Amino acid sequence: MERLTTIAEARAVSRAARAADRRVVLVPTMGALHEGHLALVEQAGDEGDVVVVSIFVNPTQFGPDEDYEAYPRTLETDEETLRRQGRATHVFAPTVQEMYPDGPAAQRTTVSVNQLTDTLCGAVRPGHFDGVTTVVSMLLHIVQPHVAVFGQKDAQQLAVIRRMVRDLHLPVDIVAVPTVRESDGLARSSRNAYLTPEERAQAPALYEALSAAATAVQQGELQVGPLVRRMQAILADAPLVHPQYIEVVDARELSPVERLQPGQRILLAVAVYFGDTRLIDNIPLTVPTRT
Ligand code: PAF
Repeated sequence: MERLTTIAEARAVSRAARAADRRVVLVPTMGALHEGHLALVEQAGDEGDVVVVSIFVNPTQFGPDEDYEAYPRTLETDEETLRRQGRATHVFAPTVQEMYPDGPAAQRTTVSVNQLTDTLCGAVRPGHFDGVTTVVSMLLHIVQPHVAVFGQKDAQQLAVIRRMVRDLHLPVDIVAVPTVRESDGLARSSRNAYLTPEERAQAPALYEALSAAATAVQQGELQVGPLVRRMQAILADAPLVHPQYIEVVDARELSPVERLQPGQRILLAVAVYFGDTRLIDNIPLTVPTRT
């Protein structure tokens, strides 16, 4: 596995692979790799021949009061993890200077997907998705993959990127990988490392709340009010959990729904704080049709 740090190197690898008729797959990450990322890389290995894992903590997607400085940077360990797994062929780990030569604040071009970014995390993290779509389009232009792999864990990010690719006719297939969970249901996330033992003990409440609402939908509940109240009640039983949002939205448009339609794809989504640590989780599902 080779480390690439410059845009020129990444372009050269992609160009050579394409010239040799090999499929290039990109897995964009911010590092601090865990089982969730490894599932993406595993899928990437099944999708193509040259698997580039980008590791870049992108400054433009963090708000001024967010954890950009504190975000774990563990490049050597990440490379070792990928080497052990044996599916990645390249790590693309550019510096901030390489990606934003005049500094992130001097960037004058932003890729912005509207409406889909007005709800859920977009509503509470202004500018976050502009940072994500801008850096992902930079990465797609640099690595020029046939396929890019993203996790369902960041459901809004996935929907926004799918929409960007569709609207801009970008020549890449987006492949989604289901959320990887701990044995107690907690979704794997780099931010889980910030949790205290007491917070960690209460963290499965997120998946418990989402699962209870999903079960209610499977059993025929079509009103959103009772679903949200059910999730609120479960989260209220975990005193260290401070919900930021608890929502039921249309899975494609990410717009809030009041009454579910049979056959509709929906997303049950929560964001909570444990102290300063913010965790998100979701369950996508199709509302059953009555027979
Ligand atoms: O999901 C992430 O880790 C980031 O948002 C991404 C897609 C790598 C862009 O920086």
